[in-house]
Amino acid sequence: MNTVYQKVVECYDSIKEQIPFTPKVALVLGSGLGNYADTMDVRAEISYSDIKNFPVSTVPGHEGKFIFGYVKDVPVVCMKGRVHYYEGYPVTDVVLPTRLMKMMGAEILFLTNASGGINPSLGAGSFMLITDHISCFAPNPLIGANIDELGCRFPDMSKIYDENLQEVIKAAAVENQIPLQEGIYVQLTGPSFESPAEIKMLRTLGADAVGMSTVVEAIAANHMGMKICGISCVANLAAGMTDQPLTHDEVQAAANQAAPLFRKLITEAIGRF
Ligand code: HPA
Repeated sequence: MNTVYQKVVECYDSIKEQIPFTPKVALVLGSGLGNYADTMDVRAEISYSDIKNFPVSTVPGHEGKFIFGYVKDVPVVCMKGRVHYYEGYPVTDVVLPTRLMKMMGAEILFLTNASGGINPSLGAGSFMLITDHISCFAPNPLIGANIDELGCRFPDMSKIYDENLQEVIKAAAVENQIPLQEGIYVQLTGPSFESPAEIKMLRTLGADAVGMSTVVEAIAANHMGMKICGISCVANLAAGMTDQPLTHDEVQAAANQAAPLFRKLITEAIGRF
């Protein structure tokens, strides 16, 4: 068996007895959303550190566990904490949790993150529905022998973010009077923030927001045929757009401030899935 796939299967086998239900939605919680599970009807939790060979995040604010529970009536597996490529894991480990959640039965992947706003209309605290992404600055997680059990060698990426889910999320935002913009997310590897020249380049390329996650997970999920949606919480204006230097603490603080409204948007959207 493909060694990358074998690792996912081993993770699954080691926890399958503890999984309380078949989740419909796999929800990845970005910065600021760590406490989302407080709003869920929680049925079980599995710490990443209790899963054999599972990549455990080293970033402060990214505590790691799967939380299983209901959002309204929808069974959800939620990732509290994700691993990032900049932590030094191979990209196949970065997408291992995504593959594992598909193996648990999740059909929908709901990605969230905090980002830097490149499009000047995206101020700190705005929410951006991800309509497409730019992946070419991050390593492709499908490089290596194809995992035929999961998907094909050359998967189509022309509609990564599901259009129906986008409509549902937009309707949830309108009905709850939560401002929601739309745009293209670009993932860079980090961990350094971008330079002003890089931000100008990314703007020229058509990116609206920049971050250090999400795209590789979306590619792996699309390979497996999952339905994908994503919302980015813009935590700061990208480098060079203000005089302020960027710090992780400020990004975290801005994400925390936007979190109550972000939580509501996610809950209202999932309730309509
Ligand atoms: N750049 C990259 N990642 C980020 C940023 C940023 O400005 N803000 C939050 N995550």
